[in-house]
Amino acid sequence: MGVAGKPGASRVLIEGLKTLEYRGYDSAGVAIQHEGGLVVLRRAGKLAELEAALAELEPFGTTGMGHTRWATHGPPTEQNAHPHVDTHERVAVVHNGIIENHEAMRRELEATGCRFRSDTDTEVLAHLISERIKAGDDLSEAVRVTAQRLEGAYAFVVVSADHPDTVVGVRHFSPLVVGLAEGASFLASDIPALLPHTRSVMPLEDGDVVTLRPDGVSVCDVDGAAVERPTRTIDWDPVRIQKGGYKHFMMKEIEEQPAAIAATMASRLDDATGSIHMDALDALGDRLRAVTRMTFVACGTSWHAGLAGKFYIENIVGMPVGVDYASEFRYRSIRGGPDHLIVPITQSGETADTLGALRDAKAEGSPLISICNVPESSAARESDAVIQTEAGPEIGVASTKAFTTQLVALYMLALDLGLRRGVLSHDDVEARITPLRRVRYAMEGALRQAALVKEVAHRYADAQDFLFLGRGVNYPIALEGALKLKEISYIHAEGYPAGEMKHGPIALIDASMPVVTIATPGRVYEKVLSNIEEVRARDGVIIAVCAEGDERVRALADEVLEVPAVDEDLSPLVNVVPLQLLAYYIAEKRGCDIDQPRNLAKSVTVE
Ligand code: AGP
Repeated sequence: MGVAGKPGASRVLIEGLKTLEYRGYDSAGVAIQHEGGLVVLRRAGKLAELEAALAELEPFGTTGMGHTRWATHGPPTEQNAHPHVDTHERVAVVHNGIIENHEAMRRELEATGCRFRSDTDTEVLAHLISERIKAGDDLSEAVRVTAQRLEGAYAFVVVSADHPDTVVGVRHFSPLVVGLAEGASFLASDIPALLPHTRSVMPLEDGDVVTLRPDGVSVCDVDGAAVERPTRTIDWDPVRIQKGGYKHFMMKEIEEQPAAIAATMASRLDDATGSIHMDALDALGDRLRAVTRMTFVACGTSWHAGLAGKFYIENIVGMPVGVDYASEFRYRSIRGGPDHLIVPITQSGETADTLGALRDAKAEGSPLISICNVPESSAARESDAVIQTEAGPEIGVASTKAFTTQLVALYMLALDLGLRRGVLSHDDVEARITPLRRVRYAMEGALRQAALVKEVAHRYADAQDFLFLGRGVNYPIALEGALKLKEISYIHAEGYPAGEMKHGPIALIDASMPVVTIATPGRVYEKVLSNIEEVRARDGVIIAVCAEGDERVRALADEVLEVPAVDEDLSPLVNVVPLQLLAYYIAEKRGCDIDQPRNLAKSVTVE
């Protein structure tokens, strides 16, 4: 985060970094102009360490910047924390992303006598900019000329002791947004950091160089040509970003899911006609008619949503659908084309792997519809159309409400596509919309089982390994349950198609490894019960997700996590709830840092 012209800048920066901490939190630092120099303070560990160091001082300064780090180059030590400075500590830089050609420039600078203090790629920026200032450039010029030399994906922000009330930032494939207020201007890698000061934001584009001063900002490209960027007004309610009495954001967000999916449906389901309308499809116009195939590209939990989306589109529309990890898609020989609709699914809209896949597909001429939760994010702005999930800001690193709203968005996309392609009648759609509207009540029913899930969680919190099994549209939910558990409790967990267990993983089955199996009504129900028998025959421990009152499953399982029965297609929305709760309560029992698990970041903006 950067600020120019705001009294008490040291406090402003700490508060801003707190809203950004979910993006990475292994070390933090600030650089603030003060009495003709720079006060640079850095601490390893959580932001609270830096806050404590600053608490000894009265809030000071009007211009400076701060950074919380998710280490890419060099361990998360104080020495490697940002800001990084030049030899005489007159220039300070904070940076998100990777400078891929930093080593050559480091060698060049060391040959001229530059003394490096850190293992980071970032530090070369401070020395290069300092050299340009010595050569007579002003700060904006020095930053702009330096940026011309860089390769990689990055956003960085610079302050200099010799340029009062000035902050310069560069955006190149990592997010950076300007905030405009009366008598002060701000810069941040995500919108929530700006909201306490202004709702007037100016998202920057790749290649932009922005100069902040108290009375306003100017933007140019790396060649120095002025560019105009539109300003938008954000109407988010900052209160929603707070925990609202919950112990963790994650639990708040698990419980927000019924409301979040209702909000995601609201603007697309037409009460009067009982029909559905995804305006994102209108935006594609004639290009949609040329589409013969579709591929979802995503990472992590969003990739699991894509696996469920494949079922929806193929079952309802009859169109072949691919699902690919974005980081793998980029190295395929087929990466899109005019008849190949690419659908990036991304909560943050800033995941570097997904943005890379989006840009590759765009270069191949693919129409692009992003399913995204953050308005004005890079994915949202670079796609032809956006299906905005209405989960609201998701702060917990482990994604929950964003996932279930993605599932709803994908189901509605399938219905509208089916309607447009004539494979669904209005009656078909209406028959599906009624249960879709009601699924939120089934999710609420699943949430009411939390106390029972907590008891089961505490019985198995010491297990070292878990296996999650699911079939059909619930196979992605088995994967999601495993990811939730490993992410926040650090227990090794694998998700597998239930039918695959006998092809290998069955060798792992014993009384020490709980097997979580999704056994709710559907076409594959009997098959799943056979899988449960296979596990029992090897002294395995079964924790089964099943429909309320299902005595057959209860007779076979060691534990049951009951949920209200819903249509098979919609069951992922309900079945994922006990798995989210199971992971949460196990992690809580183990004393883990649930909202900010070790080594993770909410938005992975590096490849
Ligand atoms: C989900 O719980 C994880 N935090 C992670 O897998 C996440 O889904 C992934 O990094 C993709 O993030 P995105 O949806 O913002 O692109």
